[in-house]
Amino acid sequence: MLIKNRIIKQIEKLKVEKNAIILAHFYQKKEIQEIADFIGDSLALARISSDNKADMIVFCGVHFMAETAKILSPQKTVLLPDPEAGCSLADSCPADEFKKFLKDYPQHKVVSYINCSAEIKALSDIICTSSNAVDIVNSFPKDEKIVFTPDKNLGAYVNNITGRNMVLWEGTCSVHDLLSIERVFELKRQYPEALVIAHPECKGQLLEVADFVGSTSAMLNYTRESKADVFIVATETGIIHQMKKYSPGKKFVIVPSEESCMCNDCYYMKVITLPKVLKSLEKERYSINLSRQIITDAYAPIHKMLEMS
Ligand code: 13P
Ligand code: SF4
Repeated sequence: MLIKNRIIKQIEKLKVEKNAIILAHFYQKKEIQEIADFIGDSLALARISSDNKADMIVFCGVHFMAETAKILSPQKTVLLPDPEAGCSLADSCPADEFKKFLKDYPQHKVVSYINCSAEIKALSDIICTSSNAVDIVNSFPKDEKIVFTPDKNLGAYVNNITGRNMVLWEGTCSVHDLLSIERVFELKRQYPEALVIAHPECKGQLLEVADFVGSTSAMLNYTRESKADVFIVATETGIIHQMKKYSPGKKFVIVPSEESCMCNDCYYMKVITLPKVLKSLEKERYSINLSRQIITDAYAPIHKMLEMS
């Protein structure tokens, strides 16, 4: 405890000295969420990255989020405390393969989920997040041909809601795609009064039985506003910290994975620790660097999304 407090004090001191802010995603460890200046979903984190007075952003999230911050604020130093903090979904769409894939769809617009690399963003007409994907897709004329990447589950969900027939890249998130529908039914038997809430990166069968589908912040707001007392939560474990904080009297039961592992702890999100945040600030590592061309090309579709959201 003493060591932890000392680390937190040092982080606070360096933050002031370097005019830095700490941004954290809801899937971060509790102690990281507690020291963050701002916690949010991907959309909120992108917004705050482009609109703050800091010289330095320490991004406690994953690589594509820190890259997005750098694209939106190229003049700032953007640090990711551990270079291992990648994303299985972003990795499932390599830029060279996607470029080849697009050759078969020359007339199509490209809508990319923000969980992708800067190279993929640069190939896109517009970016979306889980909180605005339906609205972004609906902003295109009904007959517009669209390729959606990288998450096939989110893409199928959006097709369903909007009545579109977007061509889907076959990517998935290794956390959400493995959440078990059988365990949802078991939990429903155990807690018949519970509401099921799910992130749209989950498989379609699971989304079909959910009472509510939304981004991390939409799920959080739903649990705050709902009159229900018990929630079966189909997403990564980190969000439970904020849910309990906002609704201390309510019960939150996380949906386990199909496999007997802790797979609904996102490995990439959880590699960020307090000592790594401190080292990151001390040594100004690991700095996100992108070419000017990528920044220019990736900025336009992200900016378009922010203007529309
Ligand atoms: P949100 O934008 O809903 O926070 O989702 C981010 C993410 O990585 C989901 O796996
Ligand atoms: Fe990527 Fe999935 Fe982790 Fe989100 S939960 S950062 S999509 S691997």
